[in-house]
Amino acid sequence: LLSTKGRHRDHMGNEIDEQPLVAQRVVDALAPAITDGLLWRGLGLPPLDEIDRVAIIGCGTSLHAGRAIAGVFSRVGGLPTRALVASEAAHEVWEPRTLVIAISQSGETADVLRALQGLPAEHGTVLALTNNPSSSLARRADAVIDCLAGPEIGVAATKTFVAQVLTGVCVALSGLTVSHRADATLLDADVRALTATPEALSTARDTWRGPAATLAAEFARASGFLFLGRGAGLVYAAEGALKLKELSYRWAEHQPAGELKHGPLALVDAGTPVFIVDDGDPRLEVDIAEVTARGGRVIRLGERILRVGGLPLHLPRTGPSWGPLETVVPLQMFARELALRLHRDVDKPRNLAKSVTVS
Ligand code: G6P
Repeated sequence: LLSTKGRHRDHMGNEIDEQPLVAQRVVDALAPAITDGLLWRGLGLPPLDEIDRVAIIGCGTSLHAGRAIAGVFSRVGGLPTRALVASEAAHEVWEPRTLVIAISQSGETADVLRALQGLPAEHGTVLALTNNPSSSLARRADAVIDCLAGPEIGVAATKTFVAQVLTGVCVALSGLTVSHRADATLLDADVRALTATPEALSTARDTWRGPAATLAAEFARASGFLFLGRGAGLVYAAEGALKLKELSYRWAEHQPAGELKHGPLALVDAGTPVFIVDDGDPRLEVDIAEVTARGGRVIRLGERILRVGGLPLHLPRTGPSWGPLETVVPLQMFARELALRLHRDVDKPRNLAKSVTVS
């Protein structure tokens, strides 16, 4: 977990490298308070058994963090949970006993603040998850949790994503420890996976440094990229596609892998780069076969392989309920490497701003 801060000339590279440390900071600060609902109660949130549903709102990368966190409430707690694009939340029908979690790194994103304006007073509680606990969002919310990422300078979010996911996961798990709805086995497995996450992130960082640069060289001329996932892996495919668009200005799209045969497969021909985020769903083997049969170039992330007598044996991956978070690291690294190769400004992508205060 050694810090490599300062190794790169751009902030983004350093912020990517810092992620295991940020994850360790969140785990150290929050994991001990998961037990007995301490963290949840400390935030002043109503008991989870008095909440009927969770709605998570955010934009861009913060929305993706929300989708990952939603997996904990729904998979471990069986709670109806949806993650909503903040700019579209005006069309939502809000029901009572809803916990609204508003996620924003800056806490100043106008679309998020505006979505909260549309909430009826009796809908329930608003929890802000932000990297700026003195922001407009924090002032508007009933409860606030700081994601502890530290200042992020690169416009494209990296370490704040990891920090948001893990902070939200800690909050959700804490609420579930004192809920009758929770699946105790899944909950235990998630708490164990949480403490192993900083190490998983640092292994991903160290393993992919070379390969990310090699892949960027291979795909320097590719005009489009596909990112596929299933289940809890899908959100990381989405984040990988978003990072690639933001940084390299190349076309990228993410899809649930099951949708491949309903359209996107037409995009695949010889050499098309297709990133697969593997959450352990065995149906991915069929998806991968479909891509390779058309000459597509599959880059698979998140798989667990055991070598038995020189032969690869794919192990089923189970959990955690927020999916294979460590796969975001190679996706960020690849996007950055490709962007550097194309002489883009990785800290300040064209047309984008760190904080978007207009809706
Ligand atoms: C902008 C940034 C994105 C970010 C989004 C949400 O569009 O370019 O990187 O994910 O805003 O920002 P927030 O501060 O609300 O997390």
